[in-house]
Amino acid sequence: MEVLKANNIVKNYSGLFNYSSKNIINGLNISINQGEFTAIMGSSGSGKTTLLNIFSGVDRPTIGDVEIMGRNISKLNDNERAIFRRENFGMIFQNFNLLDDLTLKENAALPLVIQGQKKEYIEEKVDELFKLLNIYEVGDKYPTGVSQGQRQRAACCRALITNPKIVFADEPTGNLDSKAAKKFMSYIKLINKNKKVTILLATHDSVAASYCSRVIFIKDGTIFADIYNNNNDKNFHNKILDCLAIMGGEN
Ligand SMILES: Nc1ncnc2c1ncn2[C@@H]1O[C@H](COP(=O)(O)OP(=O)(O)OP(=O)(O)O)[C@@H](O)[C@H]1O
Ligand SMILES: [Mg+2]
Repeated sequence: MEVLKANNIVKNYSGLFNYSSKNIINGLNISINQGEFTAIMGSSGSGKTTLLNIFSGVDRPTIGDVEIMGRNISKLNDNERAIFRRENFGMIFQNFNLLDDLTLKENAALPLVIQGQKKEYIEEKVDELFKLLNIYEVGDKYPTGVSQGQRQRAACCRALITNPKIVFADEPTGNLDSKAAKKFMSYIKLINKNKKVTILLATHDSVAASYCSRVIFIKDGTIFADIYNNNNDKNFHNKILDCLAIMGGEN
């Protein structure tokens, strides 16, 4: 089942002077199915963050529209879009965005507290996710007292706690060392498999991308390549490296 469909997306950050404007995204079409675990790759400035922001309703396309489960989110007003995002999306950021004055568990619980859910339900959900991501033991610590990888996994719990249809992550391993990044990706992969949640992430890291089931490469505002992992991560990593080499090269 298709969960995300982007039709002819154009994004133009024209400033005051339109003559200097350039399409960052230039007529891009994408279809993402339920349960897919997709990475978006491309050089710095190629528009990965721009695309994630458009898909997740943070930003609007200049032209084109984004359908999430058949609903055209580009047509919603700001208030409707905010509600739709809260109900359907989970977000993970490069710098975790955890509140330092709350414990990891309190941070993760926040979206359910805001929803006004019962204490017992919140505790049950937090415990389930903290066990799944193997941070149950450090759940009562504050963000500054745990490793970067543990912080990112707590941020991941916060993103998942509302049972979102889609999780968007912009460079989720960007602040992690390579060991923590691999660990994070293997947990995300597990969650994608167990919970069948659709995950869309932007990354520079070919190793991180190799944990995904699909990688979409963007260049010059459009899709340069779209490849699938046939359950062989090592092979898939080589395929990703090949695509990056071709994309960066002259030919
Ligand atoms: N708010 C904005 N106003 C004007 N230009 C912008 C704005 N946001 C992004 N851009 C430009 O759009 C292009 C794409 O930016 P974007 O942040 O999407 O790239 P990216 O692929 O995520 O890069 P990185 O890998 O460095 O995170 C860049 O040239 C950037 O300078
Ligand atoms: Mg970016």
